[in-house]
Amino acid sequence: MRPASSPERNPVILPIVKIGTPLLRRKTAAVPSALAGSKGLKKLLGKMAATMRHADGVGLAANQVGVNLRLFAMESQKNRRYPKAPAFPLRFYLNAKIVKASKKKVRGWEGCLSIPGYRGLVPRHEWLTFTALTPEGARVRRTVRGFEARVIQHEIDHLNGFFYMDRMKGLRDWFHLDLWDARFRPKVRGRGK
Ligand code: NI
Repeated sequence: MRPASSPERNPVILPIVKIGTPLLRRKTAAVPSALAGSKGLKKLLGKMAATMRHADGVGLAANQVGVNLRLFAMESQKNRRYPKAPAFPLRFYLNAKIVKASKKKVRGWEGCLSIPGYRGLVPRHEWLTFTALTPEGARVRRTVRGFEARVIQHEIDHLNGFFYMDRMKGLRDWFHLDLWDARFRPKVRGRGK
């Protein structure tokens, strides 16, 4: 990691709190409508996006940076942690709520910036419909599937105080990244997920 971008040197990068922090086990507070469109919110979201990118994450919930608010950032570009993941643009969602989801669940590998160094095979709804507010306060209702749906489930779980391991059927498919890398990391030209 570039030392010039560490939280001490660059205030835009926020420290990510780790598992064991009580705020990660609590249900976060709804974003008040007065906050939508505000300068303060814009500033927070900018810092969260920078923090997520700096950590090579594809999603970041507010309580992961110590903020008790029901909002998250997500983005999937070319990413070292998820080299084969489908891309989607940077988005922020406030007060997101899943209103419909597929009965069918699919398993896929997940990691978490609050649990560095591990990956687990997690069953998730294949598709879902959710409602949320945009940072400007506009109401959206979207249906997403696959990796994007997986990230949304992971982030909404964070906002309700859950980790991906809570969704696993036991921890037999939970790996330290050193071993996961050797066994499961998708090859650049291989099939992989
Ligand atoms: Ni996470």
